[in-house]
Amino acid sequence: MAIRKILTYPAPVLRKKARKITVFDEELRQLAADMGETMYDAPGVGLAANQIGVLRQIIVVDVSRDDEKKKFITLINPVISDGEGSVAGEEGCLSVIEYEAKVKRFQKIHVSALDFDGNPINFDAEDRFARIIQHEVDHLHGKLFIDHLSALKRGLYKKKLKKILKNRL
Ligand code: NI
Repeated sequence: MAIRKILTYPAPVLRKKARKITVFDEELRQLAADMGETMYDAPGVGLAANQIGVLRQIIVVDVSRDDEKKKFITLINPVISDGEGSVAGEEGCLSVIEYEAKVKRFQKIHVSALDFDGNPINFDAEDRFARIIQHEVDHLHGKLFIDHLSALKRGLYKKKLKKILKNRL
């Protein structure tokens, strides 16, 4: 396993659409293992392949309980359907530095994806779990959580980021 470099906004790869995965091999498992390790090292609770510069439809989502060893699930070619309800909740992103904001998401969703053998997985997700999946699936479509905010809020973040990046030089 290896920790990969997490790319941050405005890296162009974060704006690209990831391609569907069609080959289910050892390399795919390795990619997922690296993504899990990278996510926990950050630390974060979800990661999409775009964030490490890989344009393939794969995400990892933390599912560990408080008192448990870290555990995550891998979703390949995930598709969200049957969104229900709307809840505003605080979000951040490993690719959007030094910023958090309230984003509205479906409270409940249905998720269809594939496992490492290319077999279908189907389940319902709610609340925090549903929020993370929606956030990560957005990444696969080149979308960031700041895209859900008003143009004004997004503009303020861009200004703030400019300052942060300038001070880093
Ligand atoms: Ni993110």
